Amino acid sequence: MEHTDLIKETLITESQIAERVKELGAQITERYKNCGNRPIVIGILKGAWIYLADLMRQVDVDVDIDFMSVSSYGGGTTTSGSITIVKDLSVSVEGRDVLIVEDIVDSGVTLSRLKTLLLGERGAKSVVISTLLSKPSRRQVHVDVEYVGFEIPDAFVVGYGLDFDEKFRTLRDVCVLKEEAYK
Ligand code: IMP
Ligand code: MG
Repeated sequence: MEHTDLIKETLITESQIAERVKELGAQITERYKNCGNRPIVIGILKGAWIYLADLMRQVDVDVDIDFMSVSSYGGGTTTSGSITIVKDLSVSVEGRDVLIVEDIVDSGVTLSRLKTLLLGERGAKSVVISTLLSKPSRRQVHVDVEYVGFEIPDAFVVGYGLDFDEKFRTLRDVCVLKEEAYK
């Protein structure tokens, strides 16, 4: 694995993630199993793809899956506060029950804006969020997140889909990056 000397410590292990993803999958199954219409799951690229793949194999409900790529970050590790749609959905969400699957909620800016867009202009019937990770101490705007895998302290983490400069996504554990890696 590239640059493993830049990893400070393992925060959440592969097996802890697997156990939690199972629990979340069961909860999400309960929520949607009698909802009548097929929910649409929106994975937020690129960070959420590994979480989405594991989570959806623990959800026992038929769903549509689509992806969006949105960006609220420049090159660094702080939020710029604006959202840009880099890749849009390939189907309409009008009248649909939407489950957003995200890697991490940090400031909350990305998801609050995305939720507003989907419920407003795009006419979704409902929007529920599941994120693998949340950093509550970093929140700048409030956003309801129904299914959180793990609340973590304010540290920059990588692995299990999360990157720093496109690196470390395929680490199996969630790890804390050494500050010297991005300072
Ligand atoms: P925010 O909630 O709008 O601040 O942005 C969340 C997005 O920032 C996530 O989807 C990630 O792409 C990125 N992000 C925030 N914190 C981290 C981190 O610790 N590691 C990797 N990406 C992060
Ligand atoms: Mg992201």
